[in-house]
Amino acid sequence: MTDLTQLSEVTATSPTERTATPRHYLMCRPDHFTVSYEINPWMDKTRLTDRDLAVAQWETLYETYLAWGHTVDLIDPAPGLPDMVFAANGATVVDGLVYSAKFRYPERQPEGPLYEKWFADHGYMTQTAAEVNEGEGDILLVGDTFLAGTGFRTDPASHGELARLTGREVVTLELVDPRFYHLDTALSVLDSRPGHELVAYHPQAFSPASQAVLAERYPDAVMATEADAVALGLNAVSDGLHVVVAPAAVDLKAALTERGFEVHPVATTELLKGGGGAKCCTLEIRS
Ligand code: ARG
Repeated sequence: MTDLTQLSEVTATSPTERTATPRHYLMCRPDHFTVSYEINPWMDKTRLTDRDLAVAQWETLYETYLAWGHTVDLIDPAPGLPDMVFAANGATVVDGLVYSAKFRYPERQPEGPLYEKWFADHGYMTQTAAEVNEGEGDILLVGDTFLAGTGFRTDPASHGELARLTGREVVTLELVDPRFYHLDTALSVLDSRPGHELVAYHPQAFSPASQAVLAERYPDAVMATEADAVALGLNAVSDGLHVVVAPAAVDLKAALTERGFEVHPVATTELLKGGGGAKCCTLEIRS
């Protein structure tokens, strides 16, 4: 006779099957990386930055994606735009449609048109944003739905603009902790397949109302600790199986392994001086 107790135990502990799907990314080499202005609490102009180290760390990330079989395009870095390495902020691309970024701070505003031009030059249909938004820094696709951050950078008016443009549901989430000023520093999309949605997030980075929205939508979510979040561990990149995570996000690494992901620590400590990690350097192109 089958021992039902044992059977249910096996089911409960077996990790969900994880599947990698091929990705197409856009990245920007940090050839001009430095911290020459301060627009988030991580940035300190008086601290020295090591550009060679930034490039080396970025190259490890780039090579990691290539090793996993993903396609990575590169945009030319522009002198005088030290944050251009944070390609995730450059646009939002879904169904081959490019919704341009419109940056909040003047220091980064020239980046919007440069990214938009790259997409236009490569045959994409682009839509110039009327409203302030910082691309995938604040706009993340989970299943068929966009989660869209606001509070520090992206204007909620852009959430409506995005919904009108794409015909997709856009869920507004309010960020409340200045250290986690972009949605991709507070929440990470681990599985974006419709019907298999899985996210990790740090609840305290969100307003109580937004915490309630997240809890209702993602009862299964991985809860990231304060230490994970402070290491910018949630600025992770997942292809559905492999996940790049900041080495210092110890609890998150363990939680992801337990959920069946292959965790690949990649150090991005030099880029952290600008307030970014792996995800910030990675813009996903969904054609
Ligand atoms: N220094 C940049 C800024 O404050 C960092 C951007 C990080 N990017 C991101 N996707 N979170 O705008």
